[in-house]
Amino acid sequence: MKAIVYSHYGTPDVLHLADRPTPSPAANEVLIRVHAAEATKSDCELRSFQFPVRWFWLPLRIAFGIRKPKQQILGGYFAGEITQVGTEVQHLAPGDRVFGSSQLRLGGYAEYLCLPGHYSLAPIPENLTYVEAAAVPLGGLNALHFIRRAKIQPGERVLINGAGGSIGSYAVQLAKLFGAEVTAVDSANKAALLTELGADHVIDYRQADFRQSTAEYDVVVDMVASSPYGSTISALRANGRYLMANPSLIKMLRAVWTTQFSSKQVLFAFAAETLGELQTLQLMLKEGQIRAVVDRVYPMAKAADAHRRVESEQRLGSVVIQISGVID
Ligand SMILES: NC(=O)c1ccc[n+]([C@@H]2O[C@H](COP(=O)([O-])OP(=O)(O)OC[C@H]3O[C@@H](n4cnc5c(N)ncnc54)[C@H](OP(=O)(O)O)[C@@H]3O)[C@@H](O)[C@H]2O)c1
Repeated sequence: MKAIVYSHYGTPDVLHLADRPTPSPAANEVLIRVHAAEATKSDCELRSFQFPVRWFWLPLRIAFGIRKPKQQILGGYFAGEITQVGTEVQHLAPGDRVFGSSQLRLGGYAEYLCLPGHYSLAPIPENLTYVEAAAVPLGGLNALHFIRRAKIQPGERVLINGAGGSIGSYAVQLAKLFGAEVTAVDSANKAALLTELGADHVIDYRQADFRQSTAEYDVVVDMVASSPYGSTISALRANGRYLMANPSLIKMLRAVWTTQFSSKQVLFAFAAETLGELQTLQLMLKEGQIRAVVDRVYPMAKAADAHRRVESEQRLGSVVIQISGVID
């Protein structure tokens, strides 16, 4: 099979096309013919081995390979068709169109991917193409996790910082769906998209700092690792909740203190990306309550350009790599 591989850490140019043996599923696994995979910020961070939060570096380097990557095929979020199922897998069958997460196994940047049948794999709603479906799991699962943990009540004021990215663009839609008044913060080129996704107010962070205004929020969902902690907490109302996607060790310690000794709560748990959450998204997509946000689509041979696009931060939504030859 064809795969996009990288054999050492570095710039997008380390990505190249190569032939790899097609995997075959064990009894508890399924084989998926991948049609599309999202090129995510996390893929770029694993490729370059540069993370916005420094404490990630050592544990991830030990897990992913000290001198070179152990798993040379990136891609944690994908859409495709099941072609084979192991004897123990009852709930999936060849021909099923599925989308989902391969978790830390990655491997979505290849024509075929084997995953345990119990992983988060759900049927693609009929109104979505493979490309659109591949754009959903990362942003949708992480945004749903944060928005649910925030326990948003109708009418609450919710601010999404980094709203134009993969996670933020779903967080805006979900916060709106949960009845919030949504303020989206990102750069100016994303303002029109954010309004279209439902944001009531849009702030260009290069022009204004929401922390300096008198407005206060019930919930801040923060995708930006460099956010100052103290002034973000100050922008919360009493009983407000602050959700951090990218917490540093210092911020985690301060979070425990804030939660313990004030009415405000700071939450930073990683998303479990469960099947139940994916099925919730599937239903929301089917009923048109949320939509996939695709920026550009690249063929496998242009994977390096897909990563450059993600790293340029100019994108509006998800960058998707078309894996199979089928264009849809
Ligand atoms: N905790 C978890 O469970 C979890 C799970 C997955 C990912 N993550 C991490 O969460 C982060 C966000 O993920 P993502 O995929 O959504 O990233 P992304 O797609 O790159 O989105 C980040 C957005 O923030 C904007 N931005 C940058 N600086 C900003 C600032 N100072 N103020 C406001 N907006 C700013 C960026 O736009 P411009 O650059 O154009 O300004 C971009 O639109 C990544 O670092 C990822 O590793 C955490």
